Amino acid sequence: MTRNHKIAVIKGDGIGPEIIDEAIKVLDALSANMDFNLEYDEFLMGGAALDEAGVPLPDETIQGVKKSDAVLFGAIGGPKWDGVERHLRPESGLLALRKEMGTFANLRPAIVYDELVNASTLKPDVVKGVDIMVVRELTGGIYFGKPRELLADRAYNTMVYTRDEVIRIAHVAFEIAMKRNKRVCSVDKANVLEVSQFWRETVIEVAEEYPEVELTHMYVDNAAMQLIREPKQFDVILTGNIFGDILSDAASMLSGSIGLLPSASTGKGVGLYEPIHGSAPDIAGQGIANPLATISSASMMLRYALGEEEAANKIDDAIKKALSKGYRTGDLGAYDAKEVLSCSQMGDIIAKYVSK
Ligand code: NAD
Ligand code: IPM
Ligand code: MN
Repeated sequence: MTRNHKIAVIKGDGIGPEIIDEAIKVLDALSANMDFNLEYDEFLMGGAALDEAGVPLPDETIQGVKKSDAVLFGAIGGPKWDGVERHLRPESGLLALRKEMGTFANLRPAIVYDELVNASTLKPDVVKGVDIMVVRELTGGIYFGKPRELLADRAYNTMVYTRDEVIRIAHVAFEIAMKRNKRVCSVDKANVLEVSQFWRETVIEVAEEYPEVELTHMYVDNAAMQLIREPKQFDVILTGNIFGDILSDAASMLSGSIGLLPSASTGKGVGLYEPIHGSAPDIAGQGIANPLATISSASMMLRYALGEEEAANKIDDAIKKALSKGYRTGDLGAYDAKEVLSCSQMGDIIAKYVSK
């Protein structure tokens, strides 16, 4: 019997529509040849929503997302909206959606494809074989802490973590580690911040339930350095909202481009699948963005949200095949490229390979 999946699609701003179109192209090519059917409903968020509906996260989007089986999202933001009040900014829409959906666990895999060891700015022997899972807490920490205020002569934000918040994200990291190499490195700033000391003590408590997993701790400044020095020392990195945001962008350059890194945000119910990068205003509208991070996010969606493991594997294999044949978008460096592809040409290649 044909399985039906309902996907809420949020294209967003900048390169968002370009990369989502390619992910849908690939999903359509898959579903045409497999025993499932995908139904898409498009919703507004970010700058596009502000322009059309006056708010960055319309109620209609929240309701639509809740009725879906998964959300596929591109990116939001851009200079056009930099001057608007904080609560109306495109980014506020995304943060509100994550909170509303309860997607507290953001999984950001940083994998280096053998074919791309020369695309990284680091030496090939440093990056070859890197396979890191960053587990970023997504609905707490300084992003959401209160009090927060912008005054004429000072401004402040507050970094808060509750016990329950740390416990639940730590469990996610340990469970993932159990399926991988059984090593968790918890990254904090416990030498300076009370909130990090609390984070560390709580993670140590949770670790008692996972005797097979080796837990280490690292200060975030050192972690940033170690990611560049010897990235292969990491298996699972467990960290808070802001540290995870920064470290995952850094980790993306191990793989060769931020245009490669997907993410899955999971938690209480429906999950959100999105590339880790932003709306790339500097290249938006030129048709040159790398769609692979979004296509990989669609693969994570098939695997984690829709139970379509075989289809997810087909996407992963198609990406490897395209890279091994020398297909590259411009961000990956053109020196070993068979030809430099546009965003839609890369989508065409992946769609062709998944159809076979
Ligand atoms: P960015 O990730 O949008 O871009 C950083 C650099 O990486 C740019 O040079 C860009 O061209 C390049 N890049 C990003 N994605 C690429 C891709 N798929 N292919 C090729 N190159 C790519 O970060 P930024 O410039 O700091 O932010 C731009 C806007 O995006 C801001 O408004 C920011 O708030 C927003 N943002 C949104 C998200 C999101 O929607 N999840 C994430 C990060 C930033
Ligand atoms: C990301 C982005 C967002 C974040 C912004 C746009 C709110 O940088 O998804 O990594 O900081 O979480
Ligand atoms: Mn980010």
